[in-house]
Amino acid sequence: MHYSGTVLVAGATGRTGQWVVKRLQHYGIDYRLFVRSGKKALELFGPEITDKLTLGSIENDEEVLAAVSHADAVICAVGGNVMNPEAPPPSAIDRDGVIRLAAHAREQGVRHFVLISSLAVTRPDHPLNKYGQVLTMKLEGENEVRRLFSMKGFSYTILRPGGLAEGEPMEHPLLFDTGDRIETGKINRSDVAEAAVESLWTPEARDLTFELIQTDENAAQKSFERYFRNLNKK
Ligand SMILES: NC(=O)c1ccc[n+]([C@@H]2O[C@H](COP(=O)([O-])OP(=O)(O)OC[C@H]3O[C@@H](n4cnc5c(N)ncnc54)[C@H](OP(=O)(O)O)[C@@H]3O)[C@@H](O)[C@H]2O)c1
Repeated sequence: MHYSGTVLVAGATGRTGQWVVKRLQHYGIDYRLFVRSGKKALELFGPEITDKLTLGSIENDEEVLAAVSHADAVICAVGGNVMNPEAPPPSAIDRDGVIRLAAHAREQGVRHFVLISSLAVTRPDHPLNKYGQVLTMKLEGENEVRRLFSMKGFSYTILRPGGLAEGEPMEHPLLFDTGDRIETGKINRSDVAEAAVESLWTPEARDLTFELIQTDENAAQKSFERYFRNLNKK
């Protein structure tokens, strides 16, 4: 058994969130889903997830509270839609929503919080930040996750992936780094999900904020644990 707790996936119907669910299923880890649309979740995952669903928005305190209770870990794959002017802005989702999720998770005794953030969050002049200051909002969400989950008995892992791409997991060697020094790069959503799930049981992933991209090489990967270990040696 890789991890024996129950993992709540927030944003489970998103493109990365779906892969998080698939990788948890792959390892036989117990999970719950926090989604806006039950219909979308059932279409994606089938009727067997019915009892695992909490419906709601990351903008709503009661719904978030219901979702996090009884979870041992949370993996947050939520992201606002910066291209849609009708959608709530990054300040409401990527900052306040993430902070709400982390705060309620901490209160309810969730032990490990995994946040999927983004490369370049510490670079306010990056072109992506023009969209509702999405990078700055993500950094503020990250800061609160670090503050809440660095206390004794709790832990966090914050992943900052490059541009997200489609493809099967574990087909490319990855590059992990810290300090937001990687200028650009891409990575399959499936591999981001895999790294997020592996952080549940990898000691070197605890209390870690790191960037991740894939290399151009094609080479089957058994696990990403060695990338976490090598990162810590630097
Ligand atoms: N796109 C990139 O190249 C890139 C690069 C680096 C980092 N990122 C970040 O990586 C993360 C995952 O990206 P992705 O492309 O997988 O995202 P995505 O497919 O757009 O999925 C986002 C998820 O967030 C959910 N969500 C949005 N607003 C919500 C709310 N108010 N309450 C609850 N859930 C809400 C969506 O729900 P529905 O399923 O109901 O829509 C969806 O499940 C995001 O944080 C993104 O910003 C993206």
